[in-house]
Amino acid sequence: MATGLSRMPVTPAALEERVAELLARMTLEEKVGQLALLQGSGGHVDGHLRDLVREGRIGSVLNEVHVETVNELQRIAVEESRLGIPLLVGRDVIHGFKTIFPIPLGQAASWNPALITRGARIAALEAAAAGVNWTFAPMIDIARDPRWGRVAESLGEDPCLTARLGAAMVAGFQGEDLTDSGSIAACAKHFAGYGACESGRDYNTTSIPEHELRNVHLPPFRAAVDAGVASIMTSFSDLNGVPATGNAMLLQEILREEWGFDGFVVSDWDSVRQLAVHGLTPDDRESAFEAAMAGCDMEMAGSAYAGHLASLVEDGRIPAARVDALAGNVLRTKLRLGLFEQPYTDPAMLPASGNPEHLQAARDAARESVVLLKNEHGLLPLDPGRRGTLAVIGPLADDPYEQLGTWIFDGDASLSQTVLQALRESAGAALSVEFARGIPSTRSRDTSGFAEAVALAERSDAVVLFLGEEAILSGEAHCRADVGLPGAQEALIEAVAATGTPVVLVIMAGRPLALERIVDRVPALLYAWHPGSMGGPAIADLLFGVEAPSGKLPITLPRVTGQIPIYYAHKHTGKPPTRESFIHIDDIEPRAPQLSVGNTSFHLDVDYTPLFPFGHGLSYTTFTYSDIQPSSPVTAMDGTLVISAEVRNTGDREAEEVVQLYLRDPAASVTRPVRELKGFEKVRLAPGERRRVGFSLTAADLAFHGRTGRLVTEPGQFHAWIGGSSEAELRIDFVLTDAHSS
Ligand code: GLC
Repeated sequence: MATGLSRMPVTPAALEERVAELLARMTLEEKVGQLALLQGSGGHVDGHLRDLVREGRIGSVLNEVHVETVNELQRIAVEESRLGIPLLVGRDVIHGFKTIFPIPLGQAASWNPALITRGARIAALEAAAAGVNWTFAPMIDIARDPRWGRVAESLGEDPCLTARLGAAMVAGFQGEDLTDSGSIAACAKHFAGYGACESGRDYNTTSIPEHELRNVHLPPFRAAVDAGVASIMTSFSDLNGVPATGNAMLLQEILREEWGFDGFVVSDWDSVRQLAVHGLTPDDRESAFEAAMAGCDMEMAGSAYAGHLASLVEDGRIPAARVDALAGNVLRTKLRLGLFEQPYTDPAMLPASGNPEHLQAARDAARESVVLLKNEHGLLPLDPGRRGTLAVIGPLADDPYEQLGTWIFDGDASLSQTVLQALRESAGAALSVEFARGIPSTRSRDTSGFAEAVALAERSDAVVLFLGEEAILSGEAHCRADVGLPGAQEALIEAVAATGTPVVLVIMAGRPLALERIVDRVPALLYAWHPGSMGGPAIADLLFGVEAPSGKLPITLPRVTGQIPIYYAHKHTGKPPTRESFIHIDDIEPRAPQLSVGNTSFHLDVDYTPLFPFGHGLSYTTFTYSDIQPSSPVTAMDGTLVISAEVRNTGDREAEEVVQLYLRDPAASVTRPVRELKGFEKVRLAPGERRRVGFSLTAADLAFHGRTGRLVTEPGQFHAWIGGSSEAELRIDFVLTDAHSS
């Protein structure tokens, strides 16, 4: 039955009136029904689901992407339930729907917010055509442990980069107007601190001091809230003894009271009932109590709320007003989505999935996501017009599915173009592109294909080797205790390199891999993550020099697993390692006296630096930085301080560079990182072109959460660097004179 509530509220007051009006008509059971999110029945409406919707006992479904089925579910909700409240229809649209973009970690390597917004918009358009109106993305957990499978879904290790790119993803999904047919509600996840899971093992315990939680893990979520994200998902993890799904400090104090978030909070899959598994509660009833009182509005794929919330209210354990607040948050989002006015999907109103424009956007995103880590003797770019043979070797060179990466529920592998295909299409008539798989899969230890690969390499002028990880080796619950190349891939590299034919190694993976053992065996190394549907043409464009690589690492690449966690924004410690104090295990004299070996912060058996640092990425040209200057050397931070430098393209081809600003507060009330990214800008420069790039700073950029957890800005000297990676050397100091803490 239509509710007669067909007018779209145009002001916040009108919206709240509509929410109150709806709540006033609802029974307690119907309010609890709005807090239930259950799995669809996969392309049809089964009897049980029909009854639940008709009786108002669920308010949202997930994983139903058959548009006719979605429309039928909406019809039942709107026309057969007592109040006609439409459904939210959720799906994990993490990096594309049918057209797949690079995994988020790869997209982050583009350092290009506009590119990421475009990709999310296309993903929203394609998902909306299937009836989806809510996605469980962006995933903006700070990830500093490559052993964790979900690093693939993240935007990397840095709060500033993740905040900017996460907000860009929200903008893409939600568009200018959430009621547009191609806009879908976004969901920032997993709130919060999930990426700090011990030993990189998914779902594991996290112990994060409050100032670290606030300085590192929360800024991306604050940025998403400020960008208007419609929903937030709690993480599975135990945060300092209180699992996030039942954590009032997170869900009430920070999210609602400090940040003013007025969307809704959804649990992760059955994470309400898992509060008992964690040991926070004895049973589902108490789990429902803890989660509801902490501020978890909706329960995903669980029955604790449905089974106990109403009786907890009737018993007086939970105030009725609390359930009104939970249900009101959900209804507010449904109203903002315009679902009451337009609950149905007409696919004809939306662009076809996998259309040329979408594929071109995926190609652009893939091209900007690839990071050139090394390029000795200018081996790259290869000349497509040369006469000779190009050997393409490796299981990931021609696999339409594996290049898509993790979390591609609806990805259409038939849209994929592989690198082998693209190289053959792009190569000149005189260049013969020949393929040998070399090894059956990335995990295989079968070396019987090595001989064919070696023979091909021997008779070729260059080799491009495609190795790394299959998609299944990263993603949720797919963690690795050793992040080296799986299987016999290192042996394949050795065998091919031993032929003396120059080798370009292209890594496709869902995480940073530890490559120290093979990095010196190849003169050129590209990191392509899992590049998505159009990874082939994008990588071919770069290999043949159609475009120059512009990607920069959004996460540190370790030398060996044992270095993890290793990240650029680390603390200085009281005994930082130096070249002078470091000594390698192989160089220690027999019976060396105890104090002769080191006594600073390093491992004996590996250098203390990463293999490649955050922010690193080469081009086919070179960029120099000079003349860094602050707008004033001493500043009272009630205004704006601009720090700028001149960047110049000193090579012979046009290319893009990500100019990065880092700051350090060398003396503060809590120790601060040796560097923190505070700004970045991607610029395109012609050969010889110079450009001054400036970054405006305010007090907020220098503030941090100190000993009390409160945000403070403290006077003193600051260091600032501008350059092309977190190892930028061009530095200027400035002094802050005012002290104020908010
Ligand atoms: C999963 C994930 C979450 C996802 C949800 C729905 O367990 O943790 O990120 O959105 O369930 O698939």
